[in-house]
Order: sequence, then structure tokens, then C-alpha cells
Amino acid sequence: MRVASFLTAVAFAAGALAGPIYSRTTQVTDVKCTDPNTTLDSHTSNVALLQICGGIAGSIQKCQGNPTTTTGESGNVRFSITPVVQGATINVSKGRWEQGIKAAFAVCGQNKPFEATFDKGASTGDIRVTYGPK
Ligand SMILES: *[C@@H]1O[C@H](CO)[C@@H](O)[C@H](O)[C@H]1NC(C)=O
Ligand SMILES: *[C@@H]1O[C@H](CO)[C@@H](O)[C@H](O)[C@H]1NC(C)=O
Repeated sequence: MRVASFLTAVAFAAGALAGPIYSRTTQVTDVKCTDPNTTLDSHTSNVALLQICGGIAGSIQKCQGNPTTTTGESGNVRFSITPVVQGATINVSKGRWEQGIKAAFAVCGQNKPFEATFDKGASTGDIRVTYGPK
């Protein structure tokens, strides 16, 4: 009971900080923690993650322009996305993108570099995501 209410409190706090509470549905597989000793800057990472697909800040709710690959960079931080299926284009929604990053951080540690596959997010198939220093 104690653990359950603690987790509820944590989930609530995390949701409150992140803004809207999305349903946590992004499956993340094949997670590799690529540099466990490095922790990147949280604010810089939050800026970088909104730079994918030419920018998904504000009211933009998904990757625009159907790119075949994209990066989101700020300072020394880089996210990159490549579709798992060659020739597919990226159209991940902002909600799924943010959920997937959270799920990968839950495995590797907050703001620790990773490689992971997020389910869906492309015209066909999944997307492979890397996060680390530039
Ligand atoms: C991470 O740090 C530990 C402790 O200092 C060290 O033993 C290990 O080799 C480091 N790993 C990498 C990948 O740098
Ligand atoms: C991305 O494209 C696929 C295939 O056309 C579609 O099923 C999916 O709904 C699209 N995702 C978004 C977020 O638009």
C-alpha cells in the first residue's frame, strides 16, 4: 500500500511538472545505455527534444514534413531519429516522443545517454532513437 501510494504520488508529481498527462503507451525496446557515467543537462535536453523535425515546440503536436531522418540539438545535446524500416518517414507525435524518452530514462537513468526503439512513430514501423552528447 505504501509503495503504491508513493508511486501514485511520484506519477502525479511527474505529470504535473510535464504538463498534460498523456497515457503512457509508448513501448520502448532494445534499450542500450550507451554512457552510464554521463548525465546531460536537463534543461538543454528539454530544449533539444523539441528541435526534431525542424521544431515541435508550442502548439505543434507531431513531427512535420515526413523526414527520413531528423535530429534535435541544443548545446552539446543531440537526439536523433531514424526509422527502423528503410524508406519509411518519421511522423511521431509529440506525446509519444516524450513518453518514449521518459521510458528510456526510466531504464538508463534521467538524462543518461541511450539508444532505443520506440514503437510506431513512422509511416511504417518503429523509430530508432539515440540521445547523447554531440
Ligand atoms: C564509469 O565509472 C566507473 C567508476 O568510476 C568506471 O569503473 C567505469 O569504467 C566507467 N565506465 C565508462 C564506460 O566510462
Ligand atoms: C503516421 O503515419 C501512419 C501511416 O500513414 C499513420 O497510421 C499514423 O497515424 C501517423 N501518425 C501520426 C502521429 O500522424
